[in-house]
Amino acid sequence: MFPPAKYGFSKTDVCFNSFHYVILSCRVCMPYITVLRRYLHPCISHGYSNNDYRNNFDEERYVMALRKPFVAGNWKMNNLVGESLALVEALKPLVAGVAAVDMAVCPAYTSLHAVGKALAGTNIQLGAQNAYVKESGAYTGEISPKMLLDVGCAWTIIGHSERRHILGEADAFLNEKLRFSLACGLKVMFCIGELLEERKDGKMESVLERQVVKGLEGMTAADLDNVVIAYEPVWAIGTGETATPDQAEEVHVFVRNLIDKSFGADAASKMRIQYGGSVKPENASDLISRENVDGFLVGGAALKADSFAAIINACA
Ligand code: 13P
Repeated sequence: MFPPAKYGFSKTDVCFNSFHYVILSCRVCMPYITVLRRYLHPCISHGYSNNDYRNNFDEERYVMALRKPFVAGNWKMNNLVGESLALVEALKPLVAGVAAVDMAVCPAYTSLHAVGKALAGTNIQLGAQNAYVKESGAYTGEISPKMLLDVGCAWTIIGHSERRHILGEADAFLNEKLRFSLACGLKVMFCIGELLEERKDGKMESVLERQVVKGLEGMTAADLDNVVIAYEPVWAIGTGETATPDQAEEVHVFVRNLIDKSFGADAASKMRIQYGGSVKPENASDLISRENVDGFLVGGAALKADSFAAIINACA
């Protein structure tokens, strides 16, 4: 029989003690539950856009938002080591207080080591512009993810249009590079974008779909946690001609839907999609104000500390 009389408890004792423990547990757990609800709820709810966060939440909560803006500077084949160091030293104080934006610079290989050291302990991450599909060996002129990690890279760019169109890198090879970089522990900015003729001929969506589907082939939703997609229309790169906020938003929605189809709604809502192509301080605010523009991959304007910092600050 319950309660066992031999322990000297009556039914009333047991009920009272249980009630007491329930109350005690609630009092101990409540502050934690409140904190968790406060911070986790906006993160797991998919109903908010970045703009809703800006309007409705303080900075601390915005930092916890689902898609934190990510602005990266692709320095391409520019800057000797001394120039690279001067650029990051000038940039550091201009963005030191920015917590609401993830940021990275991607120097040429020869500057990675020095810039990596200069960035240690700052809020600016280091990225490379490319990575090969082997860890080491007889691959003259190539660089491995392991080497990039060794000099402090957290990121690499894969699939930039200049590598697709000037160096002839095809979708299957880029998919191999993307997967190998992730497997080695690098995060990847994966670039896609249509040529002007493809846009004019009405082929934009099929080109982007091919690049996304083939580029991400064989990957899981969990892999995508370490991937950012950079939409860079080739006609806007280095031309001074920027996609309008409407054009960028339209493509970013299209790309997000592709991710949804292949990897599910959760992966799609978490995926950060950067825009790249003649981003400048003058157009950054309008572009980032669009719901599906989650940051920028910046070329020319990233080569000057003040213009790159102004673009970062436009996203904060
Ligand atoms: P621009 O900003 O110079 O147009 O370059 C964009 C780009 O290619 C970034 O990867």
